[in-house]
Amino acid sequence: MSNTDRSKDNFERLLSRMNPLVEQALKRYAWPQSDAPKRLTDAMTYSLQAGGKRLRPMLVLAACEAVGGELESALPVAAAFEMIHTYSLIHDDLPAMDDDDLRRGRPTCHKAFDEATAILAGDAMATYAFQAILTHVSDPAKAVAAGRELAVAAGLEGMVGGQMADLEGEGRTPSADELRYIHEHKTGALITAAVVCGGIMGGADDATLQHLRQYGQAIGLAFQVIDDILDETATAEQLGKSPGKDSASDKMTYPRLYGLEGARNYAEQLISEACGHLQSLKKADALQTIAEYFVARTY
Ligand code: IPE
Ligand code: IPE
Ligand code: MG
Ligand code: MG
Ligand code: MG
Repeated sequence: MSNTDRSKDNFERLLSRMNPLVEQALKRYAWPQSDAPKRLTDAMTYSLQAGGKRLRPMLVLAACEAVGGELESALPVAAAFEMIHTYSLIHDDLPAMDDDDLRRGRPTCHKAFDEATAILAGDAMATYAFQAILTHVSDPAKAVAAGRELAVAAGLEGMVGGQMADLEGEGRTPSADELRYIHEHKTGALITAAVVCGGIMGGADDATLQHLRQYGQAIGLAFQVIDDILDETATAEQLGKSPGKDSASDKMTYPRLYGLEGARNYAEQLISEACGHLQSLKKADALQTIAEYFVARTY
């Protein structure tokens, strides 16, 4: 068996262990039927339940496990990360941003509903994530720490800042510094925060959180490098989204900066760097498996 096949095999096993927990968390902590307009909750549920790899909630659980924590306590936080991520995809796909028609193998939210509904579904999901944490995390200190970590990662100094830089970078020659800023913020920040929040929920000390943060930063950047590569090399059937969009929008990407092979080598280097930060953890197998899957993945 090749290393890539072994990584995928380990990941499949991890997925069958963790996915039921993630789906249960999403059912339990997502919005109930309420007196809010049905069209809005339908659009939110449409995007959240469209599938998706659920990697961020898995990272929350894997990091919680790595520090010896109780997975059950991390479930509301795991659900919150998938909500923020799904909102980011809804807005990323809007005509004013990447203008995509296909997401998670289905028409994008604004195609299935309409633009205003998609904007509002994203807005409502972003705030619902914090509602879930603040309502369901019973330890107030952990709720504050995880909520703050997620807020910083999702907002101005994280994902939203990165998305703005991504748009501003269209049509310009990639520079290594700028591209790193874009990828570390638009994608890396949320992935890093998922790992850190898993540690927070598991009761990790500051030194351990620092190792988790460094692991998260390396895999987060690697994840977007591979996303850029897949945009050039994979099919719509594999991805559940339209490939070839980055070059069509003249985005700054790692394949443009380093070539396809150079970009892949860079991602592999980041993953081995990430795994170096797992040495001191109690039970890091799941984090190791996810890191290896991040470069082995084909969708
Ligand atoms: C896509 O993320 C957007 C990026 C940050 C690259 P994923 O590849 O995790 O998307 P889903 O959740 O599986 O749909
Ligand atoms: C998306 O990056 C990052 C966020 C959604 C925050 P991309 O624009 O590359 O993601 P895809 O390729 O559309 O999934
Ligand atoms: Mg984008
Ligand atoms: Mg996009
Ligand atoms: Mg992409």
